[in-house]
Amino acid sequence: MVVVINFGGQYAHLIARRVRELGVKSELVNPDIKIEALKRLNPQALILSGSPYSVYERNSPKVNPEIYDLKIPVLGICYGMHLIAEQLGGRVAGQNSKQFGKVKIKWQKSNLFDGLVGEQTVWFSHGDIIKSSPPGFKSIGKTSTVPIAAFENSNNKIYGIQFHPEVTHTSCGMQILENFLFNIAKCKKDLDLKQIRDSMIKNLKSELISDKVLMAISGGVDSLVAATLLKEAISNKLYCLFIDTGLLRSYDRTDFKKVINKVKFPNVKVVEAGDRFLQILKGVIDPEEKRVKIAKLYFEILKEEAKKIGKVAYLAQGTIYPDRIESAAHTKHADKIKSHHNVTLPHGLKLKIIEPLADLYKDEVRKLGKLLNLPNEFLNRHPFPGPGLAIRILGEVTAERLEIVRQADEIFISELKSSGIYVKVAQSLAALLPVKSVGVMGDARTYSYIISLRSVDTLDFMTADWSKIPTEVLEKVSSRIVNEVRGVNRVVYDITQKPPATIEYE
Ligand code: XMP
Repeated sequence: MVVVINFGGQYAHLIARRVRELGVKSELVNPDIKIEALKRLNPQALILSGSPYSVYERNSPKVNPEIYDLKIPVLGICYGMHLIAEQLGGRVAGQNSKQFGKVKIKWQKSNLFDGLVGEQTVWFSHGDIIKSSPPGFKSIGKTSTVPIAAFENSNNKIYGIQFHPEVTHTSCGMQILENFLFNIAKCKKDLDLKQIRDSMIKNLKSELISDKVLMAISGGVDSLVAATLLKEAISNKLYCLFIDTGLLRSYDRTDFKKVINKVKFPNVKVVEAGDRFLQILKGVIDPEEKRVKIAKLYFEILKEEAKKIGKVAYLAQGTIYPDRIESAAHTKHADKIKSHHNVTLPHGLKLKIIEPLADLYKDEVRKLGKLLNLPNEFLNRHPFPGPGLAIRILGEVTAERLEIVRQADEIFISELKSSGIYVKVAQSLAALLPVKSVGVMGDARTYSYIISLRSVDTLDFMTADWSKIPTEVLEKVSSRIVNEVRGVNRVVYDITQKPPATIEYE
């Protein structure tokens, strides 16, 4: 197994996940792990993650430098590389012209870069660089402005790379991780999703012997796969709830009915709560306040429903790994980006929480869904966030704005579906910008809202590129929205990557 030491970088969990994708078990640990505890895990390799800190900052997270004497191969990524440099006698400093995003790198000969030739594009995400390598290390990669973008001490099997191999923007990243795991650290492949499915069902069965479990299903992939696992494990002890928050898209409810008919979940109930959500969102414009208020009411409704059913012991959630990372849950030293819906649990909740998918990423969840025989039609649905359209209306949520964004979304999604683009992109959405601009319709002046369309390509939802949708399709969508949706006179297409933007607007 491989131990990933988590210094709080946005992609630390993604590193662990990539290692698993390559078929090797991995575990995240905090930097303050004791050497004895680390040895007990008996790792084949250590990976040091990135971090929002600089190594020379006070309070920046450090690991016991004895790890370099354990004769276990080490790969430092970004901050991890800087830490190796700092702890072993090199020098790290901030850079005047910071390199972020895609950068071209030139490889030098190294076991880490076996199979890579010439120049390739990699993803940088830190302002610091190595000014001088520690004794015994040599540079094995450089960019036009960074002379030590990768280094190695091949005798001690210690490697460092300034860029992120775990994100999809680094197209050769998996090759580099493979070289490290299998050529350098001699790891063995021993992980497979079928086994994970079987052991998940077995564990749920034994953990929930006679307890009732309540689960809110949204029709989205995560809750659907989690509920299907639970149905396999505990059949009619599962109680399914569809909460209509009024923040849903025009087709969510019909899609949900289709899912229910197909999968035959037991004990299904629909709760109408649109008015209650609108009420609590009155006058709220701060994104975090919106998220927290929505989550609070959502859980209140779940509690009410649990009480009605009686003797419910567990609340099941479709939480997946990225939800937890971006809420900075379970990670020391991480920056909170946003409070993801599932993770914002209320205080004093009597129900125990069960999250079967908490260690998986979206694409793993989809593969698991396939192994559970769920139809592609449901598995290929784009993700839709728990707080729904409320976080796609910047500013106050009102019934009028909800209707506008709902109609715009329906046009966008239906055009993407009919042009065959929907299945090729990862997530598409329409957002309402709460500013008005001047336009002209017929001979009259208009003064209306702007709709921003966003569509992204991504596998892991941690990084994303904007989708290069053909202009004819965008033109049709734009023209339909301004003609068919009252209150909109301008449509823009968002061409920002994540990072620095996020996928949702709030
Ligand atoms: P961001 O906006 O953080 O989104 O780039 C990454 C992915 O997470 C989804 N998302 C959420 N999903 N509850 C969810 O279930 C939430 O509160 C939430 N916020 C964002 C988002 O749609 C994208 O797929």
